[in-house]
Amino acid sequence: MRSKVTKAIFPVAGLGTRFLPATKSVPKEIMTLVDKPLVQYAIDEARAAGIKEFIFVTSRGKGALEDYFDHAPTLEAELVRKGKTDLLEILKSTDMESGEVAYMRQHKALGLGHAVWCARNLIHDEPFAVMLPDDVIAAEKPCLQQMVEAYEETGGSMVAAMEVPMEKTSSYGILDVEEDMGSRVSVKGMVEKPKVEDAPSNLAVIGRYILSPNVLRNLDDAGTGAGGEIQLTDAIAKEIGEGGDGVYGYRFRGQRFDCGSKAGFLQATVAFGLAREELRDDLESFLKSLDYSRKAAE
Ligand code: UTP
Repeated sequence: MRSKVTKAIFPVAGLGTRFLPATKSVPKEIMTLVDKPLVQYAIDEARAAGIKEFIFVTSRGKGALEDYFDHAPTLEAELVRKGKTDLLEILKSTDMESGEVAYMRQHKALGLGHAVWCARNLIHDEPFAVMLPDDVIAAEKPCLQQMVEAYEETGGSMVAAMEVPMEKTSSYGILDVEEDMGSRVSVKGMVEKPKVEDAPSNLAVIGRYILSPNVLRNLDDAGTGAGGEIQLTDAIAKEIGEGGDGVYGYRFRGQRFDCGSKAGFLQATVAFGLAREELRDDLESFLKSLDYSRKAAE
């Protein structure tokens, strides 16, 4: 019987330079899509997948993130006084129970692999999830839940994967596929940010992982990889051929938005806005009006 995946690490210690100057004082993960911060989408997805312990790897200046998950007694009292029960309900969805959430500091931004390694003492000999909140995935069944179900059959380590245009492969971890089984692929190699001409496929890793505890051991003595950073991809790749349950890519069903980039964030804002009934009509007619003005200008 496989151990259940009940812990997730959220590495949020990056500098978020693509969103400067905003990220000078606002953590990227607190930026909002419609009315929820990016991190809330990740937490909701994690809960749906059965995650019970949430481990944040943070850095200086991320205090707003800890406050977000704290109770807000003054605000709550004011809402009670005004009888705003609907808003109180919304607030409740952000509360974390004591002991459910942990914060660990990454003292230097040495890379994603290093950030995950910083949480090593909170993970025992058990599989765990890693979620990057700036990858937001709109899906009927939440992406991590899809992966947990697939993982229960395979074991090993599993990464969320999606096809990207060949010329974009140099921005991702790329899978070298051994066997393609449709939604699942077994992997014989992984390479972080390859040159386009060296990319073994166009199947890219995005920010959802279920990892065997061996990956943490591999990170114990990991050196720097692509971009001079300690890469999670390299530690996962080390698992291949080691006699364990192997490494799998999982083609999830859903649409992924790269909210770590401005274009992706704007696209997600429009898509999530259109998905909200109370906003849809206004937003749609606004978008149409933009189209008319563009055509008129041509
Ligand atoms: P990114 O590559 O998006 O880097 O990290 P970043 O610092 O967040 O953003 P830019 O590129 O400067 O705009 C991917 C994920 O890995 C985490 C980030 O917080 C993000 O969730 N990360 C990255 C760390 O936690 N520590 C690191 O040392 C590097």
